[in-house]
Amino acid sequence: MKELSLNILDIAQNSITAEADLVEITLDETDTTLKLSIKDNGYGMSPEFLASVHDPFSTTRTTRKVGLGIPLLKLAAEQTGGGITLSSVQRSVDPENCGTEITAFFHKDHLDFTPLGDIVSTVCTLLQGFPDVDYVFTHTISRAAGEDGAAESTVISLDTRDMRVILGDDVPLSDPMVLLWVRDTLEEQYAAAGAHTAQ
Ligand SMILES: Nc1ncnc2c1ncn2[C@@H]1O[C@H](COP(=O)(O)OP(=O)(O)OP(=O)(O)O)[C@@H](O)[C@H]1O
Ligand SMILES: [Mg+2]
Repeated sequence: MKELSLNILDIAQNSITAEADLVEITLDETDTTLKLSIKDNGYGMSPEFLASVHDPFSTTRTTRKVGLGIPLLKLAAEQTGGGITLSSVQRSVDPENCGTEITAFFHKDHLDFTPLGDIVSTVCTLLQGFPDVDYVFTHTISRAAGEDGAAESTVISLDTRDMRVILGDDVPLSDPMVLLWVRDTLEEQYAAAGAHTAQ
């Protein structure tokens, strides 16, 4: 894929298929590295399935035999010298604490690093397509101290649980005005951060 944000959309859709009502997307970025975590509270995977899920032939989808979301993210990470880790707790084992977390680690300075791309659109697409799910998006950008100044760290964030308190029950996250506001607030935060996203 040309943009990591599209891989992220794919992985977040797995969470929604797994009946999650909370999806946390966390990006931790330095000058040379990017760590991504997608964590949900869905029904999880069995240890046996989890062990095989890196394999494209491992899927519960019925329309075709290969699942590509996880293998493609794995490839994108590994081709930079990074990798992915997966952990999952099944609902049938622990209904209170079930869910899945996928983390991926990338070396940004590697020739084969895929740029993050339009992550704001990924967040908006999720809200628009699955407005009943809550999302916590956190992108931390840390810059090492340069010759001219101290190290700094900026956080770009959105928590739809806070938005719902203000919107009440009548206005869904997929409302066009809400989506416009989300796009604006994220873009403003990126602009204030100097737009130094994972390019
Ligand atoms: N967050 C998750 N919770 C529960 N099961 C998951 C989760 N993510 C993936 N899985 C399981 O792993 C399988 C493989 O996921 P993957 O994204 O690689 O392919 P897919 O979703 O089956 O197909 P595609 O993403 O290509 O449409 C899924 O079919 C699903 O059974
Ligand atoms: Mg998938």
